[in-house]
Amino acid sequence: MSQQNIVWHETTIKKEERQERNGHRSAILWFTGLSGAGKSTLANALEQQLFKQGKNSYVLDGDNVRHGLNKGLGFSDEDRKENIRRIGEVAKLFVDAGTLVCTAFISPFKEDRNRVRELVEDGEFIEVYVRCSLEACEERDPKGLYKKARAGEIPEFTGISSPYEEPDAPEIIIDSDKKSVEQSVEMILAYLKEKKIL
Ligand code: PPS
Repeated sequence: MSQQNIVWHETTIKKEERQERNGHRSAILWFTGLSGAGKSTLANALEQQLFKQGKNSYVLDGDNVRHGLNKGLGFSDEDRKENIRRIGEVAKLFVDAGTLVCTAFISPFKEDRNRVRELVEDGEFIEVYVRCSLEACEERDPKGLYKKARAGEIPEFTGISSPYEEPDAPEIIIDSDKKSVEQSVEMILAYLKEKKIL
């Protein structure tokens, strides 16, 4: 598809003006990890605190986005890549809108996560690795998906029949089988304060 007749328009209100009015910087808190590791739980718990404190925040969640914007995408490597590409672009818009956006997607491939990192400015992409062993995730199995995957009913299931590439240098690591949700949220809030995002 040709893009030659499409011209970029500068918007009149700048990101910096929105951030100044909000009283905090904007960023992507990119939660990544296996299914059942606790990405959504943590993203939502963090957002509750941010919201309570009057910050501009939003959660983008894998299961939900796949009901709408990314309806029709499956779990092949190619579809996951496109899933993350679109979410990355949406998250970038949220950053531009002055929001702290918490995204909860398995995002199993390093290359795809790094591509999102490159979409925004330095310091605006905060990779939060929600680390949890496959055994513990499988034990939790909150949606019964691991059981189905082991029975061969779900093809290309992350950790079972599709890979998960751990981040090399995430900004934050949460060991979700060792830390409580409250402790984890405190850790992330402390990071945001240290980096003067809040
Ligand atoms: S990805 O890999 O980032 O594109 O996946 P994501 O958009 O986060 O969607 C993951 C949720 O989809 C459900 N599900 C699967 N996960 C992994 N592999 C397969 N094959 C699969 N099929 C369905 C599952 O509920 C995931 O949710 P979470 O919250 O991670 O458990």
